[in-house]
Amino acid sequence: MSQGFSAHTSGERLIIHDLASTRVQASFAEDVRAGLLSTPRKLFPKYFYDELGSQLFEAICLLPEYYLTRAENEIIERYAQEMAAEVPGHKRLLEMGSGSASKTRRIIEAILEEQDELLYIPVDISATALETSARVLLQAYPRLSINAFAGDYYSGLKALGSSHAQNGERTLALFLGSNIGNFDREGARTFLHALRSVLTDGDELLLGADLKKEREVLEAAYDDSLGVTAAFNLNLLSRINRELDADFDLRAFRHYARYDEEAGRIEMHLESLRSQVVRVARLDLELQFEDGERIHTENSYKYNMADLARLASETGFTLARTWYDSMKRFSSNLFVATS
Ligand code: AVJ
Repeated sequence: MSQGFSAHTSGERLIIHDLASTRVQASFAEDVRAGLLSTPRKLFPKYFYDELGSQLFEAICLLPEYYLTRAENEIIERYAQEMAAEVPGHKRLLEMGSGSASKTRRIIEAILEEQDELLYIPVDISATALETSARVLLQAYPRLSINAFAGDYYSGLKALGSSHAQNGERTLALFLGSNIGNFDREGARTFLHALRSVLTDGDELLLGADLKKEREVLEAAYDDSLGVTAAFNLNLLSRINRELDADFDLRAFRHYARYDEEAGRIEMHLESLRSQVVRVARLDLELQFEDGERIHTENSYKYNMADLARLASETGFTLARTWYDSMKRFSSNLFVATS
């Protein structure tokens, strides 16, 4: 049995570190101010995930058009044992943007077939999602301990930096669901570099990346017929109404999603359906929207194998293996940390 579990040996199996939610609250207000005042207007996608937003995202994952989650699930269901076996020795499991952690279960099971205990370290912006998923996992896996960080990716990595793996323990990092897609090409490199810095040579990263494909398939995935993605997008305005005392009329904006093939990304926007004035009381703002004016809310970058191999080599990794779903829509990539 490995050491390195000192915080967890006293029967305490769950620690949740809340990385300054008051600061998150302050930065929400400031980011909304800066974003709504910039040209073109924009809001950061990390703010989708309030309680309702997190639930709407869970619903998106069940939509027939949103193939990403099903495809990645198929891959992990099928190859979890191979994935776990690719990383030699005793492991701890780190996950960036764990959400409900439903895909992680198969990987946890596969690792627990190889070793008798496991430390799982999820980082997620939603403290509620962390708490809920942690309870479910601890209940299901008595040999699991959880050290969770509620905060954005960079706060999580910063907090993690001080808790390096000990005694030759390996880290398997997970960055699933094509969460990488929210970064632009440069941002993805910066982030993987930062993630690389909490890993040691030989540690591995399983990176889920959605693949470039026909426009029709991509656009349907981000503009589903039930309107759940529209609700997910519009909820950002509703969150601003609730938390910053604004008066956005949700019926006066529409969800807009389009694939920019040259940039290799889906863009989501909220488009004003008329000329209108919106007040954000808590920010002391009065905003004039033109008819058709858009607020950019999300980019979802898509990858091909050349993009992924390059991304790996530019950030201190090598792309060791790729697994695909049966329709080859999605990829799970094993990045090995190199010196
Ligand atoms: C959670 C960022 C991977 O970009 O596909 C789903 C979020 N946005 N539908 C994605 C999302 C609209 C999702 N990620």
